Amino acid sequence: MLYDIIVVGSGIAGLYSALYAKKAGFNVAVLSKSNPFRSNSAVASGGINAVINLSEMDSIARHINDTIEGADGLSHARAIEQMCAEAPSIISELRELGVKFDEDASGKIAQRPFGGASGERTCYIADRTGSAIVQTLLMRCREAGVHILSNHVFLNITRYKGELSGITILRRRNSQVAALACKALILAGGGYAGIYRGHTTNSQESSGDVLAAALKAGMRLCNMEFVQFHPTTLATTGALISEAARGEGAYLVDENGVRFTQELQTRDKLSRDIAKHMSEGHKVYLDFRHLEPDLIDVKLPSAKKMALTAAGIDIHTELLPITPAAHYSIGGIWTREDTSTDLYGVFACGECASSGVHGANRLGGNSLLEGAYFGRLAAQEASRVALRREFRPIDYAEVEKESRRIDLIIEGESRFNINAMRKNLGEGLFRNAGVFRTGTSLADALSYIHYLMRQSYGLHCVNKELHDNVELLSILEFRNALIVAEAMVMGALRREESRGVHYREDFPHKDDKQFSGASIAQRLGHNYLKITFETVDRIELWHKVKKILHVS
Ligand code: FUM
Repeated sequence: MLYDIIVVGSGIAGLYSALYAKKAGFNVAVLSKSNPFRSNSAVASGGINAVINLSEMDSIARHINDTIEGADGLSHARAIEQMCAEAPSIISELRELGVKFDEDASGKIAQRPFGGASGERTCYIADRTGSAIVQTLLMRCREAGVHILSNHVFLNITRYKGELSGITILRRRNSQVAALACKALILAGGGYAGIYRGHTTNSQESSGDVLAAALKAGMRLCNMEFVQFHPTTLATTGALISEAARGEGAYLVDENGVRFTQELQTRDKLSRDIAKHMSEGHKVYLDFRHLEPDLIDVKLPSAKKMALTAAGIDIHTELLPITPAAHYSIGGIWTREDTSTDLYGVFACGECASSGVHGANRLGGNSLLEGAYFGRLAAQEASRVALRREFRPIDYAEVEKESRRIDLIIEGESRFNINAMRKNLGEGLFRNAGVFRTGTSLADALSYIHYLMRQSYGLHCVNKELHDNVELLSILEFRNALIVAEAMVMGALRREESRGVHYREDFPHKDDKQFSGASIAQRLGHNYLKITFETVDRIELWHKVKKILHVS
């Protein structure tokens, strides 16, 4: 099949970019390995940030300032400026597309406070904002004629004489490998927080597939050591209890009913406060009991339902046990400001990309905004390329190679249990590369990853079914997870300082002299990963922007 533009991923960034590219007149396909509602966009429940009422209480300059302050010195000030300035127009567009944001009594879009924000600027749909937006975008994409390829697994980027020619995919219905040709490719396939299996809000599908493919294609990854832990996830399952809960006034208390932290500080600090309190032997709970029953029913219905169905707890009357868990990958594919990557014709946006807008720590509510803003930009840039580029031939030797790799995984005799290995990786990462880390714990994590890499060659399907073989998908995801985990842990080992979500107990301070730039991971030889640090002084750049914006 030939498409002008292929979009890998069906979260907000993928769907937004596909819709824009289609409206520009191109033949567009969106690839989704399962169901768009398993994307991390659908999990991001609490809302999307935008200053839509300019007042003394809030301004776009304050949104920019909060985002940069939250990012702890590592952000890309110009990208933040542009994203925050465009945020109001994104909200209007989403509304025009049919997203029904909650409104206040006067009919204006309602907004709630979120951590690290100096104003109430998070627009929402109860506590199911991400899934409501994905649902609308999916409908609009279908109506516009975007070709949605569900249950198609992205394998690799194909090149002809070094140039983008298309991608290889796996069809889940028959486990067959195929190639799709394109003139431009948008990678919007989500992040890698799902590799913390057992300690993550993400579905296990967030295994960093597009990042692994990018690395294999010679592209660089950036700031991989920065993984955000969400402070409040269900202690039993890791399911997200949205920041909306704290935004609407729920408290964090321990078993003695003591409020030991400030609920609306940024997620990095709050996760550390909670993890530390827990390591001292306390249990931590979200307390909704003082909230009006109506407020819970109208604004927090998903939290109420999740507590009841997953933990058997009625939040009107009982405390809800929570714990931090991996939630969002800040690191991602290295991109320029216009979403272009190291490979001409390939663009990256949303969680899989490192756009620089989150720096070392992301503010809640900024990820859906990032997805929409950079999704739109990626569509514009990819359209420009698709307009002037011809299709390149697919090298069928590459397709054959992929096909043999899949056959081998299906046909061989398995020596290991994929589920246990995935769980062990998640446990090991949470223990050694979690909210707190040290050089020793990270070195342990890295040798465990290398051990699992060696073992993973002995992974084959016990079930030889060709139709929708879930085991095959798990093995492919696990191999990608290991590639990504290695880059993440090596970045964390090399960054000998504490900044944002990356907290090294053996280097508890920020070191702007050595580490004020982004980290870059690049594959040099077949298996050799090199980590370097950019020398751009982000802090200096931010001081310049501050002067222009007149913010203190
Ligand atoms: O807590 C939440 O609702 C998550 C939102 C986000 O990740 O932006």
